[in-house]
Amino acid sequence: MQSLQEQIKQYEQEINSFTPADATELENYRIKFLGTKGIVKAIFGEMKNVPVEQKKEAGQLLNTFKQLAEGKYDAFAHLQGGNGKQDTGIDITLPGTAIPTGTRHPLRMVENEIVSIFEKIGFSVATGPEIEDDWHNFTSLNMPEHHPARDMQDTFYVSQNPDWVLRTHTSSVQARIMEQGNLPVRVICPGRVYRNETISARAHCFFHQCEGLYIDKNVSFADLKQTLYYFVTEMFGADTKVRFRPSYFPFTEPSAEMDISCTVCGGSGCSLCKHTGWVEILGCGMVHPNMLRNFGIDSEVYTGFAFGMGVERITQIKYQVNDLRLYSQNDIRFLKQFQSI
Ligand code: PHE
Repeated sequence: MQSLQEQIKQYEQEINSFTPADATELENYRIKFLGTKGIVKAIFGEMKNVPVEQKKEAGQLLNTFKQLAEGKYDAFAHLQGGNGKQDTGIDITLPGTAIPTGTRHPLRMVENEIVSIFEKIGFSVATGPEIEDDWHNFTSLNMPEHHPARDMQDTFYVSQNPDWVLRTHTSSVQARIMEQGNLPVRVICPGRVYRNETISARAHCFFHQCEGLYIDKNVSFADLKQTLYYFVTEMFGADTKVRFRPSYFPFTEPSAEMDISCTVCGGSGCSLCKHTGWVEILGCGMVHPNMLRNFGIDSEVYTGFAFGMGVERITQIKYQVNDLRLYSQNDIRFLKQFQSI
């Protein structure tokens, strides 16, 4: 105990008279007194030689000494440019490294928007396979073999089985829903479709559709018009006008194509509407009685309407994307632009 007291006294004198001039002197002091092989540690190590009855007194002595040694260091810590604690070399005030996050694909965002607009009026989502058989993609939709309308869509056939195609439209899902025979039906069918087209800014070998089907008693063309008009006002704003032009699809009769007033120029003429003031957005019509009959639905009792739109087309109109290839090139510079939408 006595030798401990003497040692401490001697070191206390040294500490009290120590005034570091620079960071190096301070660091030398730290190593000498506070380091892992320093004096404070060494003196604490001698505690084991102190008799039990003096341990308490010795403990207090050592703690006071330790505080003195540390206090001196802290008082001059500014020499190191630190914050009073040991400098770890880590500046915790620097901003962190951002973890890059992905974004939703613009087509998926628009698809979600289309689906939720129809969900609000009671439609539910139906999906089906992308590799489809001839019956669901063509024949049941009033397009028997050799029907000229099959040439409207250039089809990819699956070489392993002559009956299989990559679906050319999601009307195949509507066929599958009608096959289940649960009436009334109110479905929206989003999904990828394939056509054998040369890839360019305006055509692609795959794209996305959202098609709808509504079958019930007393469904009329007026219901079709009102439903699609509701969709357009939700999607493009209340000022948007619509017009229907007679058209032809084998699975609907009568058939129509629907245009909306150009959302870019408001109708005065621009490149999107090719200076006509109108842009075409979808095909539609009353479900052909032959198609109802193909699925055993009594066409005298039930009527229905169907429509189909391209998701790329809606996205192009909404965000003025002028090249279809952008959607599948995975260029982050393109995709990032939709981050805040
Ligand atoms: N299936 C048609 C197409 O792919 C779109 C459509 C669907 C037209 C339903 C009328 C009714 O072009």
